[in-house]
Parts: sequence; C-alpha cells; structure tokens
Amino acid sequence: MSLTAPDRRLTASLKWDKYRDRDILPLWVADMDFAAPPAVLAALHERIAHGVLGYGNPPESLPAAFIDYAARHYGWQIDPDWLVWLPGLVQGLNLACRAVGEPGDAVLTATPVYPPFLRAPGLAGRTLITVPLAEQGGRWGWDLAALEAAISPQTRLLLLCHPHNPVGRAWTRTELDALLAIAKRHQLVVCSDEIHCDLLLDEGLRHQAFAGLDADFASQTISLFAPSKTWNLPGLGCALAVIPDAGLRRRFMREMAGLVPAVNVLGYVAAEAAYRDDGQWHAELLATLRHNRALLIRAFAGSRLGLTVPEATYLAWIDARSIDAQNPLPVFEAAGLGLSDGRDFGLPGYLRLNFGCPASTIETAIQRLQAAGLL
Ligand SMILES: Cc1ncc(COP(=O)(O)O)c(C=O)c1O
Repeated sequence: MSLTAPDRRLTASLKWDKYRDRDILPLWVADMDFAAPPAVLAALHERIAHGVLGYGNPPESLPAAFIDYAARHYGWQIDPDWLVWLPGLVQGLNLACRAVGEPGDAVLTATPVYPPFLRAPGLAGRTLITVPLAEQGGRWGWDLAALEAAISPQTRLLLLCHPHNPVGRAWTRTELDALLAIAKRHQLVVCSDEIHCDLLLDEGLRHQAFAGLDADFASQTISLFAPSKTWNLPGLGCALAVIPDAGLRRRFMREMAGLVPAVNVLGYVAAEAAYRDDGQWHAELLATLRHNRALLIRAFAGSRLGLTVPEATYLAWIDARSIDAQNPLPVFEAAGLGLSDGRDFGLPGYLRLNFGCPASTIETAIQRLQAAGLL
C-alpha cells in the first residue's frame, strides 16, 4: 500500500484547524487526508535538496507531461501554446469572467455549484444568472429548456463544472453535446472546470474534455485543470488553463498581468511528477474512494437523509431537508461531523461530505450519525 494517512492535527491544515478544539470530524473542504504519491514526494525532496529556491519558470518538460497525460486519459490532443499556468484554478474561473465579454454582460451557471462559480461573475462586474440542476431519483441532470430560456443577448459565458461539484456527475457525451449545441446557438464561450476529471468512480467511465468535443468550437473554450484534487496537492497551488484561441488567450493573460503570481517552483515539480506517475497510487486511491462510497450508500439506504451517489469526485451531496430545510449544519456538528453548507452552493437544506479519507474515518462518521439518530 502506498496510500498513507498521517495525523493532520496541529499541521496548520485549513481542514483540521476549523474544529481543532472540538470533537468534530472535519469532512468539509475538498482536500484529502492522504499523503501525496511517493513519486511526487521524491521529486519534491530532490528539488528541496538542491537548496536554491529562486524565481522559477515552468520546467521545459512539464507541458509534455500534461499533454501526454491528457492525450492518454482524455483523448484530447493539446498544443503546448494553448497552456497558461496558474497558481490556482479559482483564479482561472475569475479570469475567465473578466476575459469574456464586458462589464454588465451575463455569466450563466447551474446550481448547486462550487461557491466560487457564484462569486466570480460579480467580482468581474458581470451579472450572474443561475439555473437549477434538476434532480430525479437521486440523480442530477440539466434542465436544458430552463438553461436556454435563461440566456439573453448579454449572456456571453457558461461556467461548466465537469465533473460536477457537488452533485458528483460526470456529464455524459449526450449531455455535453446538448450543452455544446446551446453554446453554439447562442455564441457563448464555455469555461469548463475539469479539476475532478481524474476522480471517476464508476467503473468504465472515461473523461471527455468539453473542449475536445468539437475542434471548431474549441476556439470558444477555456478549460481548467489541476493535479491538486487527484494527487492531493492543493496546498502547493498549481493549475492550468487550456485556451486554444490566441485572441482569447491574450485577453486572459492581459487580465493576469501584474496581479496573478507565477506558480511556485515546488508546485511545478509536484505537478510534473503527478502527471508522470505510474498510476499505482491513483488506482489505490480510487479503490479506497469506491469503498468509502459503498460504506455511505449502505449506511444511508432507507434513512431520512438523501444521498446523491457520486459518479466522480470524493464528495457526497446529502439532502438533509428532513432535519432542517434551511440550516441542518449545526445538527451535524452537534453529532460530531463538520460538513460543507449547502447554502454556500446555492441550495439550503443540503450538505456536502468529503470522503477523501481512510475508511475508518467514514466508519466513525457513520457511527456518529447513527448514535445521533440521524441515520
Ligand atoms: C470544482 C472546483 N474547482 C476548483 C477548486 C479549487 O481549485 P484551486 O484550489 O486550484 O483554486 C475546487 C476545490 O474544491 C473545486 O472543487
């Protein structure tokens, strides 16, 4: 086993500090409790051993590491000129909102969704338009008619989360084609956040990059990737935008100028080692996440809590409206679980549980829910 989970208490961890003085399991922010893959740690040790930590450049071999990975895993051929390295994917969402259209234009997205999707348009002086995803029998999908009806002549950008945080959908080819058709009809640019695309839990799934759907439409896309979720490196701050159109890429980079710092030298090293790793750690991770997901499915079956079974991500979306339709979070904290609040994602009464942790932590979480009479 190369998957290890050291004690994270007192390590200045955002996730673990939140409840440091209370007996509450932190299952909220999206980082995992696993150490990074041995190959990534070895590359970092080697870089540190050199001793000089001056200003860096993206290593010359890094673009090929990502491009080869994307060709093998997403079937998408990427040109090195299209890459823009970023110190975080959230910057990419904010930059996309600034780089497309003009102040006063509208940005469309579907809720519930990762909170920065809801904040970025307003921060860029754009109007946020949201359309609810539709839930049927625990599976979430697009209400395409509502999506299209929400588009006005001012709508310039669609922010897509693929796979989707928090509902865990890996959008199918049919769903993506329908979104593509709408984007073409209304001349929208699509910014696709694909940070969770290597965390596909259902057997046989393969990631379809949105920008890889249609070579002509690729010029209307900004795709955002990062090794940080899959290989658990979010504290190192390394992400990238793939922007095939030179004009859109220039505009995106102009918005970065003077404000967005370069990626730190360790982030680049870790990213390259992650994209070049042999896949063994990744396979162990997926097996663990599938096991944790199965524990949750079994425990929630027939309970008063609704569990959306994620096809992808290590995030479970819980319908807790039977506990409190507006704010169930404190009830779960009282039971000893610290979850993410659905209100931040645009949907009160729901909670998000991060199961990127050892199975023993999920077993404890389930016991706590049972002891509190919530399951
Ligand atoms: C969909 C999505 N995008 C972006 C991020 C954060 O990316 P970064 O830490 O690189 O800004 C997250 C983290 O949870 C996420 O779930």
